[in-house]
Amino acid sequence: MDPNRRDFMKTASVAALGSAAAQLALQNGAYASGDDTIKVGLVGCGGRGTGAASQALSTNGNVKLVAVGDAFEDRAKGAIKNLKDQLGEKGERVAVQDEKIFTGFDAYQKVIDSGVDLVILATPPGFRPIHFEYAVKSGRNIFMEKPVAVDAVGVRQVLEANKIAKEKKLKVGVGLQRHHEARYLETIKRIHDGEIGKVLALRAYWNGGGVWDPPLSREKAKSEMEYQMRNWYYYNWLCGDHIVEQHIHNLDVANWVMDGFPVRANGMGGRQVRTDKKYGEIYDHHAVEFEYADGTRCYSQCRHIANCWNSVSEHAHGTKAQADISGGRFFDGVNWKYNGPNKNPYQVEHDDLFAAIRAGAEYNEADNGAMSSMTSILGRLCTYSGKVIEMADAIKSEISLMPKSFSWDAEMPVKPNADGYYPIAVPGVTKVI
Ligand SMILES: NC(=O)c1ccc[n+]([C@@H]2O[C@H](COP(=O)([O-])OP(=O)(O)OC[C@H]3O[C@@H](n4cnc5c(N)ncnc54)[C@H](O)[C@@H]3O)[C@@H](O)[C@H]2O)c1
Repeated sequence: MDPNRRDFMKTASVAALGSAAAQLALQNGAYASGDDTIKVGLVGCGGRGTGAASQALSTNGNVKLVAVGDAFEDRAKGAIKNLKDQLGEKGERVAVQDEKIFTGFDAYQKVIDSGVDLVILATPPGFRPIHFEYAVKSGRNIFMEKPVAVDAVGVRQVLEANKIAKEKKLKVGVGLQRHHEARYLETIKRIHDGEIGKVLALRAYWNGGGVWDPPLSREKAKSEMEYQMRNWYYYNWLCGDHIVEQHIHNLDVANWVMDGFPVRANGMGGRQVRTDKKYGEIYDHHAVEFEYADGTRCYSQCRHIANCWNSVSEHAHGTKAQADISGGRFFDGVNWKYNGPNKNPYQVEHDDLFAAIRAGAEYNEADNGAMSSMTSILGRLCTYSGKVIEMADAIKSEISLMPKSFSWDAEMPVKPNADGYYPIAVPGVTKVI
């Protein structure tokens, strides 16, 4: 819908509906349907995209999924079936006509251009800045998954586009769902209120056994692009490495406690167990020390190795007590434990976003999403290079990990050697900024 038509629809709808709530919502540019239905489009129809769509369709009020897009046809079509199955009696909210199922690299444009009020962006994160910028230019409300970028160039693109989103009063949610989880909200509020004293240090972990094995074999892949896209976790231009893709959640909590972002970091990491060529170019462990402006350190680890100590958690050490933030408790000086309700934060983040859209309230999580993405990118730059890196230098980096163009036979930013192995970053040698 072009801007003039959107304005016309707003005026026409307000006249037709006449209700105060609809008037308020439409005046605030919230949604442009002829009634109070929020029309949703989904870009990236995998596990999380389908989950996010299901949560969007489970919010209060009229909401419909009207368009889906994926690079691959099997994923786009599969998501519609999965969603109908998951939603049960709310399955009629999945109202995607065949001509609104889009595939290929331009599927995102077609979904965004198909008259949706809100678009869910849930592809691998490398594409997010491109998709976010287009959605903002098109005036859509947005829910985008974390991370929102895999390199500093992408982070800057998101921050720039978000200036326009804020001018347009678009509502933007980012999938850092701990911000919508009652236990985290209460625990961090109490830390901010000084209950554990001054925070001297933080610890953050995403140590686990790893994620899915690459599903597509080299023999079956039609091109290097298809090979990397189907196996996206193991390529940095798509994923950013697991320190960016997963550990962002824990580093984002550290930033939230500190109410800011690290000024510098150093770290070490490598690839010790997951070394087969099918595992692309990412490391299997990273350990980073982040430093905030007041000198507070966050000691962070993330590991993808089976049969080791596992923990996905965040902790703060204060002058009066310690906090197990993820566990919602204080000890060693002050004893407190969160005992309140803890609704599924994946649902609450959509409830909150959709309520803001309907009320025309301010709602924008993109700057925080961009800076927490940049924090985890800074960590990767440190482990790959072995250097101390300043945030101020990292965020200015002109090194883009992305391909120059997108097609199934495009020139790839990383290529295997004759034996199928990809170059792996070597601390002390690899240049990262
Ligand atoms: N907030 C959370 O807790 C959480 C949990 C899981 C995943 N995620 C995030 O969600 C995103 C998706 O992860 P997932 O687990 O759903 O992965 P997935 O592989 O299940 O789904 C990704 C989908 O995107 C499609 N795709 C890839 N490139 C595309 C393009 N250019 N245009 C359109 N479609 C494209 C793929 O074909 C695939 O169907 C990632 O950013 C991930 O970090 C967040």
